[in-house]
This record gives sequence, C-alpha cells and structure tokens, in this order.
Amino acid sequence: MCGITGYIGGNKTTEVLIDGLKRLEYRGYDSCGIAAVDSKNSLYLKRVSGRVDALEKLVREEPVKGSHVGVGHTRWATHGAPSEDNAHPHTDCTMQVVVVHNGIIENYLDLKDKLLAAGHKFKSETDTEVIAHIIEEKLKSLHVQEKAMRADMLEPVFFEAFRRAVADLRGSFALSAVWAKCPGMILAARLHSPLVVGLGKGENFIASDVSAFLKHTKRVVFLNDGELAAVRKDGIDFYTFQGKKLAKEPVTIQWDSTMAEKGGYKHFMLKEIHEQAGAVENTLRGRLLPLGGDALKAELGFTAEAMRGFSLVQFIACGTAYHACLVGRGLFENFGMNAYADFASEFTDRAKLLAGGALVVAVSQSGETADTLFAVSEARAAGAKVLAITNTVGSTLTREADYVLYTHCGPEIGVASTKAFLGQLAAIYLLAGHFAAARGHLDKTDARRYAEELLKIPRLIEETLEKEAEIAAIARGFSSSEHFLFISRHINFPIALEGALKIKEISYVHAEGYAAGEMKHGPIAIIYKGMPLLAVAPSSRVLALVAGNVEEAKARGADVVAIVDEASQKVVKASRYIVLPRTDELFTPLLSVIPLQLFAYYIALAKNCDIDKPRNLAKSVTVR
Ligand code: G6P
Repeated sequence: MCGITGYIGGNKTTEVLIDGLKRLEYRGYDSCGIAAVDSKNSLYLKRVSGRVDALEKLVREEPVKGSHVGVGHTRWATHGAPSEDNAHPHTDCTMQVVVVHNGIIENYLDLKDKLLAAGHKFKSETDTEVIAHIIEEKLKSLHVQEKAMRADMLEPVFFEAFRRAVADLRGSFALSAVWAKCPGMILAARLHSPLVVGLGKGENFIASDVSAFLKHTKRVVFLNDGELAAVRKDGIDFYTFQGKKLAKEPVTIQWDSTMAEKGGYKHFMLKEIHEQAGAVENTLRGRLLPLGGDALKAELGFTAEAMRGFSLVQFIACGTAYHACLVGRGLFENFGMNAYADFASEFTDRAKLLAGGALVVAVSQSGETADTLFAVSEARAAGAKVLAITNTVGSTLTREADYVLYTHCGPEIGVASTKAFLGQLAAIYLLAGHFAAARGHLDKTDARRYAEELLKIPRLIEETLEKEAEIAAIARGFSSSEHFLFISRHINFPIALEGALKIKEISYVHAEGYAAGEMKHGPIAIIYKGMPLLAVAPSSRVLALVAGNVEEAKARGADVVAIVDEASQKVVKASRYIVLPRTDELFTPLLSVIPLQLFAYYIALAKNCDIDKPRNLAKSVTVR
C-alpha cells in the first residue's frame, strides 16, 4: 500500500503534490517522489529514499519551472527494497511516460520478460515500472506521428495506450500516468485499490484518499473497480476498462482538513486518544434510543424481523479492528447469540462453511484493507449478507457490503489505531443492543438500562483520561523493559491483546496479550523477576479468577500494574494501580483500553520512537 497524488490546473503543482503526500504518509513512508511536466514539456522527476520532508527540501532547492500537471507517491515497499531507484514515479525508456502505482501487479514478471525481450531497459526492481514500459509499447503500436500533432490531439492516443496497458495488468492497482508530450491530461485507473478524484475550479486532483486534497475541494468522485478517469484541468471523463463512457455524480465530503491537524498535541496518536469521548458520542448519536427502535434500522435497512432471522454473526477484521470484533463476539454471546470472530486473512476456507442466514460483520477503519475486502467477497460468494462497520465514507468496503454502519470518528492519522477502535466498539455495542432487543434477549427495561449505561461512556472516557499523568509516570518507570505481558479474561481479554499490540506497534518491544487463565498452561514459564505485567481487572464475574492469576504471576516475580475500579482494587494485589471509573462489566472494554493506549504512548515517547509513523507499518494495508 502506498499513497498517490495527482494534480492538474494552476501553477502550484509541486506544492499540492507534496502537501497531499504529507497527508498520505500514513499509507507508507519508506520512500517518495513526484514528477511534473515543465513549461517546455520536459519531465521533472525528484525521488528520495525516506520521508516527504526530505523530498520537499529537494524540490525547494531545485524547483520545477512552470508546471501545471504532475503526480506524486509515498511508498510502502512490496517489490524491491526501499531505495531511491525503487521509489515512484517510474518512467519508460523515453523518460516521457511516468507512472505512480499502489497495489501489486501479479503478472509483472511475465510482462517484464516480454518487455526485456523487446529491448526495454529497467531501472528498478519494482512491479510498477513495467506499466510505464507497457504504455510506451502501446503508444508505439498506435503508430502516431507525434511530431505532426498538437499536444491536445494526442490525448485520445494516450488514453487508448493507457487503456490497453491496463487491460494487460493482473492484480490490484490504483494508478495514475502522465505523458510529457500530452500535458493537458492525467489518466487514472483502479482495480482493488482505492482512488478518488477531487473536483476544483480550473484544477482537479487525484489521490488514494480524500485527505490529500480536502483543503482544496470537498467535491469528489470515487472510482470503482474497473474504472478509468481522464482528468483535465476543466473536466473529468470516466470510462470502463473497455472504454465505455460512464456518468458519475460527485459527492461532498463532510470532513474538513483542519480535523486532520495536530491541534497542539505532540502527536496525532495523543490527539486521537483525547478525541475518544467524541468518537463514541458521535457514533452513538441518534442511534441508540429506543433500542430495537427505528433509527438504526432505517439507517441499516434492517428490520427487527431480519435481525431475528440471522442464524449467526461472523466478525472479520485485521489488526486493532479484529480486537473490536473479539469484544463483539463476547457481547453477542453474552446475549445468547451465536457469534464468531476471525482474522480476515485467516477466513478464506471458513467463508465457504458459512451457514445460510449468516451475517458477516466486517470491521475496518479505512474500509480499504485488502484482507478484509477479500474475505468479504468470499463471504458474499458463499451467500452471506455483509454488514460493514467503517469510518470511511465511500470506501471500497461500503460499496461491497449489503449494509453499512459508519463510525463517526473523523480522520484517524496516527498509524496505531485508537479513536477508531473506540468508534468500532461503540458501533458494535449499538449493533449488539439492537439485536438483543429485537431478539428478545433484552426486555424493555434492560434495553433502556443498556442504552443509558452506554450513553454515560463518553463522560467516563473523559474521567479516565484525567489519569494521564499517573499513567505516564508508571510507563516511564518501565521504559527500558524489553518484555511486557498483558492479561485479562472474558470481555476484556481482547483489551489485553490490544494493549500488547499498541506497545509492539509504536515502541518495537516485545509484548504479549494472554487470556489470564492460559498463563498457567505455558506462558507463565517466561516470567522473570521484575517483568512488567499489566492485568486488566475491573469488577466483573471473572474478577476473582483474574486476581488469582495475578497472584500466580506475582509469585514468579512479575511486577504487576492492575487496571481496576475502586471495588476491584480491593481484590487484586498489584504493585501499582490505574483506577478507572465504574461502569457495568459489559462496558468495561470501552474504558480499560484507554490506560493501555496511554501506557504504550508514553513508553514510545520515552524511547523517542516515531510514534505516528512507526517503522515497517502503514495505516492502510491494501495488499494481501
Ligand atoms: C493496519 C494498521 C492497524 C489497523 C489495521 C486494520 O495494520 O496499522 O492500525 O488496525 O491495518 O485496518 P482497518 O483500516 O481495516 O481498520
């Protein structure tokens, strides 16, 4: 996965491209580059191994002269190491055709062999470079007298060469190409990787995600799989891969670009941790009361009868979203409904076993995670209905699903997910409550109590965040520890997994989340004197068991930090406590994850790690 930007119109090409790349860096940040066509129709190309800041410096030192068109790219390496040569944009042999690409060209080796045999010279190890050379070949095969033609007369030729090149590609791609001889048009194509076009006045934009150009326009058109766009400064035409013209209507995005700024916080992650009460509040707003009532049903297209008809709920997701799914499974089971949760990447064969009447709930912040999208298509092929829970309007997942439940968290930029997780949990609690009410597992009184308790959560999140300084101090005390254990049981077990994942993601230290009861079946052997162990132990029906497991770990030398409430603090014997406000047992994950996010943040801060852009990771993983 990578980020793509494209611009055509005024004379601010490199600024728009670079600013867009900065906003897309969460998609990958091991190398980057831009290409533009200058006033003499020559190609301007700058690439660096490293971050967009370095690219910006280079472009400032050696600016392009008078460019109105260009493309940019920030990379997360798949084929070929992160290096300047492998950084996009890639060019053909003539250095006239330039391409940026997100995805994987599965047949690139075959294509490359043919191109090598035809005499093409390659400059990188990437799969992407073949695309530039294929376009060059297709242009040749169209036998155009380029010199005798005006640049605008070349547009249909470029379009046809691009269209034919795209037809040769297998795999997944969002790609954009420019031909220096024909600088009035950028071409774009999409198959299984996101791409969106932004409509400005006398200028237009292309990007992997709207955040790249939101400060210029909120009017956008999302490309679907199998679609091409020919983008000129004063208009955009859409086509199928077969060349048939399409009519596509723009939509208006509600986010504004300042929502994606740091707002005084040192890191996006910290800002986003502090936005969690709002994320939950916005996701619940207007959808909760009366439970089992019409508001959510109207939005989802579910009737109570449909909710009663589903035989099971199967959650699928990746990463943090998978942990939200595990909480969801626990909730549905708590209400006596059959529910399962799987990694999307491990779902392939299981999809075929889905019973008729299954509801697959696919959870994804971005709505673009390739493993999740693939699992969804398998589930649909097996006859299941799919409900998407996502934060991203217009994302691929929303178009693949039968029903969509949006979380309303606003843009999440930090690679390690925090507020999106809380939004996902809120959406799952909503869903579980509505299902339970519709299926008679919650009577009217209990449904009201459930809704009231859930509505208190945003305030309790704010109270929990007041513990930040205490949590930071505890974290600093462990900043040189090399191993961490997180344990819990039942509905908080996924929170132990999430706590460990957060530390791994942003601090690069080893951390494991375990079901507390499983410790004695092996993991307890790794405990050494002073090993940090975080036990998630709010008041619950499993508290005594968790307290017992903490004793066992302590007896082997673990240094225990317990996440408790006032009542459970009396039961669990730890060396340090983080005391949460009290809520009903069922809702505790919505609070207990917060100290673990902050703990991970302050460990990473003490280690001076790149918190918003951790090494080797990307926010949106659009390859399988
Ligand atoms: C990546 C991100 C994680 C995220 C996961 C799933 O691995 O780094 O933070 O949880 O993808 O992303 P999604 O957009 O599907 O929720």
